[in-house]
Amino acid sequence: MRFEPLGQKMFTRRNWLLRCSILINVAVLLYIGCILMNGGGNNFTSGGGFMLQEQQQPVSSSLQASPLLPQQQPTAKNVNSEAAFADEKVLAAATGNANAEPVAAAAPPPAVVNDSGGAGGGAGSGLQPNSADPGQVVGNIVAGGSSSSAAAELNNTQPDSYIVTGDEKELDERVRTLLNCFEHDYNQQTLQRGDFWVLQNYVRADHGELKCHESITYTTHADYTFLDNLVPLLERWNAPISIAMHAPGTDFQPTLDSIKYLRDCVPGNQLVRAFATFHVYFGTKHIPKSVPKAQDALKTGYNCSLPAPYFNVSSGHLYKAQKKLLYPVNVGRNIARDAALTHFILASDIELYPNPGLVKKFLEMIARNEQYLRRKAPRVFPLSIFEVDENSPVPHDKTELQEFLRTGKAIPFHKRVCASCHGVPKSKEWMAANETDELSVFHIGKRTGYYVHWEPIYIGTHADPHYDERLSWEGKSDKMTQGYSLCVLDYEFHILDNAFLVHKPGIKVLKKDNRRAMLAGKTNQLIRKIIYPELKIMYGMRKGCAI
Ligand SMILES: *[C@@H]1O[C@H](CO)[C@@H](O)[C@H](O)[C@H]1NC(C)=O
Ligand SMILES: *[C@@H]1O[C@H](CO)[C@@H](O)[C@H](O)[C@H]1NC(C)=O
Ligand SMILES: *[C@@H]1O[C@H](CO)[C@@H](O)[C@H](O)[C@H]1NC(C)=O
Ligand SMILES: *[C@@H]1O[C@H](CO)[C@@H](O)[C@H](O)[C@H]1NC(C)=O
Ligand SMILES: *[C@@H]1O[C@H](CO)[C@@H](O)[C@H](O)[C@H]1NC(C)=O
Repeated sequence: MRFEPLGQKMFTRRNWLLRCSILINVAVLLYIGCILMNGGGNNFTSGGGFMLQEQQQPVSSSLQASPLLPQQQPTAKNVNSEAAFADEKVLAAATGNANAEPVAAAAPPPAVVNDSGGAGGGAGSGLQPNSADPGQVVGNIVAGGSSSSAAAELNNTQPDSYIVTGDEKELDERVRTLLNCFEHDYNQQTLQRGDFWVLQNYVRADHGELKCHESITYTTHADYTFLDNLVPLLERWNAPISIAMHAPGTDFQPTLDSIKYLRDCVPGNQLVRAFATFHVYFGTKHIPKSVPKAQDALKTGYNCSLPAPYFNVSSGHLYKAQKKLLYPVNVGRNIARDAALTHFILASDIELYPNPGLVKKFLEMIARNEQYLRRKAPRVFPLSIFEVDENSPVPHDKTELQEFLRTGKAIPFHKRVCASCHGVPKSKEWMAANETDELSVFHIGKRTGYYVHWEPIYIGTHADPHYDERLSWEGKSDKMTQGYSLCVLDYEFHILDNAFLVHKPGIKVLKKDNRRAMLAGKTNQLIRKIIYPELKIMYGMRKGCAI
């Protein structure tokens, strides 16, 4: 039809243009939809958006009775696990430039944290971080929430402290009996885990051997550029932290220097010494040139006149970025968790700061052993999560948080990025309810219905499913498969009433990141085609659960 009349030709062209523009519009809409669903935060905690849905079920609630606290299963030490970090292979095509994590530099942490929530605080001192007698420290750790004096001088050996009162001995005994948990060892070991070398307990906290019922361990992962969060976090947590540091190649030395710097050179260093245990890991193809034995790691001190090794380091400067490696977030999460000495663990992201006093109040709640704690179903205890704007302090208690929410200084976490990944059942009611003296369970929810993609952060135990080590931070959805497993295993989510996490100040907005978008697509494929079918075999299926 080469010789169409002119009119016809114009008509066809217009028609064609019209179709094109419709197609373009559809494409744009789809693209926007994709971005919205995939979230786009640039921190460790950003949610994913992989949606693979089955049927839905109404959210169940109701409090009823049943037997005792769940017995903890012994931790599989999962050493030579096959969990190779398949991402690096599956996602090998990743060639985009490693741009754009935020510079996690920032000046030294805010100096004074005045613990206004100090209801749980015992005054006085008991815990000497440099105490020669670890036994003395051990008994003290059950306390918590005493007010932290971050104003401590550098050479202050008197940390804010824990004191064993008659009360706490009783608490200690009740929790010990109720949990009847397994002890973990605190050895320094060099292990292999899939494609990674792991230096477990490479730098240990001075708390010494810790009994499994005596505290809660905050477990997390980082590269050294995130270590500016450690002191502000410890000022509020005041209890053990187990942290897995990804330190491949040339990142190893600044990582070790950062640890020394935090133990020796910053206000709050006594908290770091007392509570922070560091594990270091790297891919077998990215071994540092030299790795000191654990007992020699701290032999040469860091010159405290020099700036913090993590100060003003852009993430593009990292070995990981130069070699275009993916951040093996779940390898780090699992290493930190497996090494935790306590029965209860709060697996979190280092930029999320809990409200002070939580550990003690939580253990007191456990000791009360109310009806809901005697239910049969497995459970975890999620915390509500918020972000505050850049210039705002981090609220210390729920009353202060509510004030911030009213004035718009605080918002629910990822409200602007991926609301459904972090939407918490009954969150409106939670925010409206006044603070109370004790810590209790506010509501028992399930990861179904509107919350089917929820990526909760919670206090759990070693018995909970691990995180899938094939997923990377860049690929997003890194906690989705674990959430799905919890749902299939019929976990109950016992949402705590006066416990919350606040992200390091600064509200997240959507950022475009082409490399992450591409990797997220591949991750979704990996989950859909490989991991999801595996989970169906390993854990079975349950109506209402979805990844
Ligand atoms: C800290 O709290 C104490 C007692 O509640 C109060 O007297 C003091 O002024 C507070 N300090 C700051 C810096 O807020
Ligand atoms: C250590 O503390 C004492 C008393 O608080 C102070 O006089 C001294 O200058 C401090 N030393 C250093 C190195 O900060
Ligand atoms: C520590 O660093 C400062 C500043 O660079 C330098 O002046 C000083 O000589 C160093 N001290 C030692 C013991 O190396
Ligand atoms: C941080 O690094 C950038 C680039 O490396 C430099 O321009 C800037 O002055 C540094 N900021 C501080 C506070 O040192
Ligand atoms: C919550 O606290 C506010 C301020 O203290 C008080 O006015 C209000 O009555 C309380 N609400 C309830 C339901 O107790």
